[in-house]
Amino acid sequence: MNAGKEIVRFEKAGLAYEEAPETLSDISMTLREGEFRFLTGPSGAGKTSLLKMIYLAHKPTRGRFFLFGEDAMEAPREALPALRRRIGVVFQEFRLLDHFTAYENVALPMKVAGVNQNQYREDVSELLNWVGLGDRMDAKPATLSGGEKQRVALARALVSKPDLILADEPTGNVDPAMGERIMKLFVELNKLGAAVIVATHDLHLVQSIGKPVLRIANGKVTRSAGAGGAG
Ligand SMILES: Nc1ncnc2c1ncn2[C@@H]1O[C@H](COP(=O)(O)OP(=O)(O)O)[C@@H](O)[C@H]1O
Ligand SMILES: [Mg+2]
Repeated sequence: MNAGKEIVRFEKAGLAYEEAPETLSDISMTLREGEFRFLTGPSGAGKTSLLKMIYLAHKPTRGRFFLFGEDAMEAPREALPALRRRIGVVFQEFRLLDHFTAYENVALPMKVAGVNQNQYREDVSELLNWVGLGDRMDAKPATLSGGEKQRVALARALVSKPDLILADEPTGNVDPAMGERIMKLFVELNKLGAAVIVATHDLHLVQSIGKPVLRIANGKVTRSAGAGGAG
C-alpha cells in the first residue's frame, strides 16, 4: 500500500509549560493523508496540549515537528497563518461572535477569505442542517444552548473544507444521538480526504466508529492495542 502524504509528524517532541515538568515528554507520531485517529488518555494527560501543538498554538519545547511536510519549528512566523488555515479546529472553548447569527458565524471564515457568498451559502446551510440547526440559522449565540453553540462552532470549523480536522471532545456537550451524528460527519469528511484527529473520552463512540486509537499517558503517545478497541 502506498503511504499518503505526511500531514503531521512529531519526532521525540516535548512540551513544558513554563517552569512545570514536561507535560509531553516523548511524542513521536505520524499522521498521513486520509487517516483518522482517535486520541484517548486520562484527564490531564495532554490531549488538548497535543492538539494545540498541531494547531501551532503551542510550540514544542524540544524535538521536531512537521506540519503538511513543512518544518513548523523552523518556519518563520509569517508562514504560520497559511498552515493554520488548512486546519479546522473544534476546541472546547468555542468562541462565537455574539452579534452575528449562527449562519453568519459559520460563514465568517469564508467571508474573511474573500469568497463570494454565492459560493458558500449552500455549504453553510447544509452544514447547519447536518448538525440539526437548520431552523436556528438566524439565531444569535445568546439564545442558543451550550450544545447548540458547540455545533455552530463545529460547522464553522468545517466550512472551509480543511485538510486536517482537529476535534477536542466534540461530543462533550451533546446527547448520544447527536454525538454519533457528529462522528459520522467526521467520517464522511475523512472519506472526502481530510485527515482527522478526535480527542475523546467516549469509548462507546470510539468502538462504534472503529478507527485506530492513539493513547497518551505519561507524556507519550502509543498506538492502542486492538484496532478500533477502546484503548
Ligand atoms: N496553558 C497551560 N499552562 C500551564 N499548564 C497547562 C496549560 N494547559 C494545560 N496545562 C497542564 O498540562 C497538563 C495536560 O493538560 P491537557 O493538555 O489539558 O490534558 P487533557 O486534555 O488530556 O485533559 C495538565 O497537567 C494541565 O494542568
Ligand atoms: Mg482536554
